[in-house]
Amino acid sequence: MLTAIKETASYIIEKIYETPDTAIILGTGLGKIVDHLRVDVVVNYEDIPHFPVSTVEGHEGKLISGLLGNKRVLVMQGRFHYYEGYTMQQVIFPIRVMKLLGIKTLVVSNAAGGMNPDFEIGDIMIINDHICLMPNPLLGKHDPEFGARFPDMSQTYDPVLLQKARDLSKKLHIPIREGCYVGVTGPTLETPKEYQYMRIVGGDAVGMSTVPEAIAAHQMGISIFAASVITDLGVPGKIQKLTHNDVIEAAEKTAPKLTELIIHLITDR
Ligand code: HPA
Repeated sequence: MLTAIKETASYIIEKIYETPDTAIILGTGLGKIVDHLRVDVVVNYEDIPHFPVSTVEGHEGKLISGLLGNKRVLVMQGRFHYYEGYTMQQVIFPIRVMKLLGIKTLVVSNAAGGMNPDFEIGDIMIINDHICLMPNPLLGKHDPEFGARFPDMSQTYDPVLLQKARDLSKKLHIPIREGCYVGVTGPTLETPKEYQYMRIVGGDAVGMSTVPEAIAAHQMGISIFAASVITDLGVPGKIQKLTHNDVIEAAEKTAPKLTELIIHLITDR
């Protein structure tokens, strides 16, 4: 695996002029950040050696290097979900590659179901902790090159970036929620009792991504900031029949606010 990661990193380094220190993974319906990018290089995932290819509708498969304001960033447009049939090693493969590219900060967005009864559809929740109800991506053979065998997870999400997001929320008048994201495999959405269970154990929102990437990034010492768009509610009395389109529609409505917050988070330094 390490050889493949090194080959992929070398390929990408050859394609992009400068290595950025910040990477962004764009989640469901949140692709609009690319409209704010001065794009320099686009590489299709299928052209990148060893890179998995995304199969979900609404998810593109492009790696983009460009400038956000005056900040160089690497953007992953399209990510790999465990429910698509990838192994966890494949899901976190791009994060491993990012480490070799010199990425220091990773910003991730996702769509999630809200279980906190104070939440509404369209809310932005910044993630301050998670509960991993998926197979742990670090299971299996350990490679010390990537960090500890038993990585500390007492503060997975960068407290400095979390504080900055709280400050920006006030400054830009973009309301945010904050809470714990429960990572599940999917692809089924939750039954009412599953939502209730996840609420009881401390979850505020639930989704099918982000946790594997956050674990891998944190193990390697990459700072992580993650935010969810609440696209549906897993709150007793508010649970509705849901399609993937509902999720995308709700995410798209909130996208401009989240995009603004994330742009400031990355460029105001
Ligand atoms: N559950 C799991 N994943 C999701 C949800 C949900 O309710 N909404 C968006 N992604």
